[in-house]
Amino acid sequence: MWWDSKVEEIRDEARSFAESIVAPIVNRMDVTSEMDSHLLEEMKRAGYMSMLCPKEYGGRGLSTLEYAVVVEELSRICGSTGITIAAANSLGVYPVYLFGSQAQRDLVLPGVGEHGNLISFGLTEPGAGSDASGTKTTAVESNGNWLLNGSKCFITNPRFSTWFIATAVTDPDAGARGISSFLVHKDTDGFSVGKAETKMGLHASDTSMLHFEDVTLDTDAILGPRGDGFKQFMMTLDGGRISIGAMALGLAQGSLDVALRYAKDTLGIEGKIHGRQAIQFPLSDMATQIEAARHLVYHAAYLKDQKQPFAKQSAMAKLYASEVGHFCSDSAIQIMGLDGYRTGSHVERHLRDVRLCEIGEGTSEVHRIVISRYLLKELEALDKATRDAKPETEKVTA
Ligand code: CAA
Repeated sequence: MWWDSKVEEIRDEARSFAESIVAPIVNRMDVTSEMDSHLLEEMKRAGYMSMLCPKEYGGRGLSTLEYAVVVEELSRICGSTGITIAAANSLGVYPVYLFGSQAQRDLVLPGVGEHGNLISFGLTEPGAGSDASGTKTTAVESNGNWLLNGSKCFITNPRFSTWFIATAVTDPDAGARGISSFLVHKDTDGFSVGKAETKMGLHASDTSMLHFEDVTLDTDAILGPRGDGFKQFMMTLDGGRISIGAMALGLAQGSLDVALRYAKDTLGIEGKIHGRQAIQFPLSDMATQIEAARHLVYHAAYLKDQKQPFAKQSAMAKLYASEVGHFCSDSAIQIMGLDGYRTGSHVERHLRDVRLCEIGEGTSEVHRIVISRYLLKELEALDKATRDAKPETEKVTA
C-alpha cells in the first residue's frame, strides 16, 4: 500500500549514509557526548535537516513516510543521529511551515535547506512536561512589542540552531487558549542557550536549556494567531510522534541485526533445531514485534500524507514502537550475555538511547491517555449515529 521505488531509493540512500558515515564514529560520539561536526555538515548537505520542507523553500520535500524511513535507517545505527534530524524536521521545520505567515516562512525556511540553519522547539519547562499547558514562560505586550521571560528545558538541538520556536503565556486567565508561539533568533538580546543536560543515552544529541530574560520581539514574531500555541504544539507533536516511533523502530531493528549476527556467527545457532530455543524464541519475538511496529509507524505516516486523521495512529505507533525498541535492545543484551552488556557494545547503547522514546514527545502514559480519548470519542460518535438512525417514532418513545 505504501511502499514504492522512490521510498526504496530513499531508504537505500539513508542506509548507505548511516553505514558509511555514521557507523565508524558512533561509539566515539557516545563516549565524547559530542555530535561529530563533519557528520552534522554531511547531514545538512544531504538535506536531512529539511526533509519535511517543501522544495519551493529549499527543502527536500519528502513525504512523511519517506522521512520516517530515513529516521529509521539512521537510528538503526545511531539514536543520537536519528533524534537530531527528527527534532529538526518535525519540531522545527514543520510548525514554521504549517503555522508561519508567508513572511516567516520566507525568512526562516530557505536557510534550513541552504545553510543548515536549524530550528529548535521550546515547549517543555521545569514544571510543564506532560502537563504542557502548565507553561510559566510569559509574553507580555509592551510598547508595541512582546517581552518574553522564562526558561525551557530538555530542548533538542539548541547548540546547532539559528531559530527557536518558544511557547509562552499571553493570556494568563485563558488556560490552554492563553498560550502562543513565538519565533526567536539566536542573536536576540536576552536570549541564551543554557546548560547542556547529561543523559543516560543519546549522548551525541544536544539537549540544553533555553533562557529568555526580557527578550524583546516585534509583534510579527508571533507564530499564527494569538492563543493558538497549545493547539499548534499538540498538532506538531501528533506529527513528531511518528518520527519518534520511527527512531524507536530503527533502534529495535539495529538491536535485532546485531543479536542475529551474534547468534549465527558466535553462538552458531544456524541449522540447530533443538537446544537453542532460548536464543531462537526471543529473536523471533523481536522480528515479529518489529514488523508490527513498522506497520503502525508507516501506516500513521501514510495517513498523514493522505491528509487523513492520524493523531490516534501516531500515538499508537510511538507508544508501541518505543516499547518494542526497549524490549528488543534488552533482549539483544540477554542473547549476547556479557558481550552485549559490555560498555561499547551497540545493543547496550541502543538500550540507553531507546529509553528516551518512552518519555520524549509525550510519555507512554500520555499516549495511553490520548488513545483512550479517541476511543471514547469514537464510541460517542457511534452512539450518536445509532440514535440518529432510529426512526422518528422510536425516538419519541425512547
Ligand atoms: N490537535 C489539535 N488540537 C488539540 C489536540 C490535537 N492533537 N489535542 C488537544 N487539542 C486542543 C483541544 O481540542 C482543546 O481545545 P479547546 O480549548 O478549543 O477545546 C485544547 O487543545 C486543550 O486540550 P486538552 O483539554 O485535551 O488538553 P490537556 O491539558 O488535557 O492535554 C495531554 C493533555 C494530552 C496530556 C497534553 O498535555 C500532552 O500531550 N502532553 C504531553 C506533552 C508532550 O508531549 N511534551 C513533549 C515535548 S517535546 C519533547 O519532549 C522533545 C524531546 O524530548 C525530544
